[in-house]
Amino acid sequence: MKFALGIETSCDDTSVALVREDGFVEAVETVSQDQVHKPFGGIVPEIASRNHTQNLLELIENLKTKTDFVWEHIDGIAVTNRPGLLGSLLVGVTTAKTLALATKKPFIGVHHLEGHIVAPFLFDKKLSDEKINIPKFLDIPFLALVVSGGHTAIYRVEKFGSYKLLGQTIDDAAGEAFDKFAKLVDLGYPGGAEVDKLAHSGDPLKFSFPRGLAKENNFDFSFSGLKTSVHTFLKKLSKADIQSQLPDICASYQEAIVEVLALKLQNATKKFKINKMVITGGVSANSRLRQILKKWASENQVELLIPPLRYCTDNAAMIGFAGIKRLQNGEYSDFSLGALARDEL
Ligand code: KG4
Ligand code: ZN
Repeated sequence: MKFALGIETSCDDTSVALVREDGFVEAVETVSQDQVHKPFGGIVPEIASRNHTQNLLELIENLKTKTDFVWEHIDGIAVTNRPGLLGSLLVGVTTAKTLALATKKPFIGVHHLEGHIVAPFLFDKKLSDEKINIPKFLDIPFLALVVSGGHTAIYRVEKFGSYKLLGQTIDDAAGEAFDKFAKLVDLGYPGGAEVDKLAHSGDPLKFSFPRGLAKENNFDFSFSGLKTSVHTFLKKLSKADIQSQLPDICASYQEAIVEVLALKLQNATKKFKINKMVITGGVSANSRLRQILKKWASENQVELLIPPLRYCTDNAAMIGFAGIKRLQNGEYSDFSLGALARDEL
């Protein structure tokens, strides 16, 4: 059985993981920088990279202690090298190259979104303790809705390593739409999970917000109209009114995002006659999105996989798994490979 060390530093979370070639996660160690960036209302790139530098080696040491791994057990070192914040990516890439050079192991640069796409196939001891079935790799082709703080896109996965982009956001990402709204109503940063929590006790039909590009016959998304609309809506209310109606506002705003995400995925299923799919990325943690799509899937014989919450948001296990799958195909990277802030999958 092959093992990879995965490293993820593309944004603000620092994460390392030890992953088996069948997707079993031996251990994952992550430090979230949410609290560090919270006072700034968004990620400060320089602070993010400085923290990665401070966190990374200590996390690898923790991983070694927790799993008893020795470098001889590792078959490759996989790292996110694209896309993301350049300074953050460079910390991971340079560390991975140095470790690979010192241990004479293959170095594998991984696209962050490929990591998210394979995340639903990860499993761990906790999953078997919870008696949840181990996910088997879906028969290809399958659809992948990738929804995170930086991306919102639907792909048709032809096979591992071959992804056809069907549509994507033309402005903000869904996670960004959650976070910008959360900031407006003082829910802190990143606010997606907070909005989700408050929406539980709210009425999603209380207020009506625009569903961007819902009527367009394509798989693109737009959330900028929604952002403007909620901004105008909030300006008309007093602080006290916003506070007293916050659960309803959150639920209605959330509904406008998740309804259109679900709709486009459902349209893609019909158009391409593919009834197997994954939803992945930080926003796939959203409870309302999960609820709507799980219900639809069970009523329409759709095979739907969503990662457990711990593998929805950024983590190194998904990067290690994507890396080891590349290694299985005989692929690895040259040491000349750099970091790229932008890159299509
Ligand atoms: O995948 P991820 O960890 O990082 C990126 O690659 O962007 O996604 C982070 C995003 C943030 O925008 C965060 O607000 C959002 O995922 N998020 C959620 C929830 N949990 C995290 N959005 C809606 N509902 C949630 N429960
Ligand atoms: Zn991500």
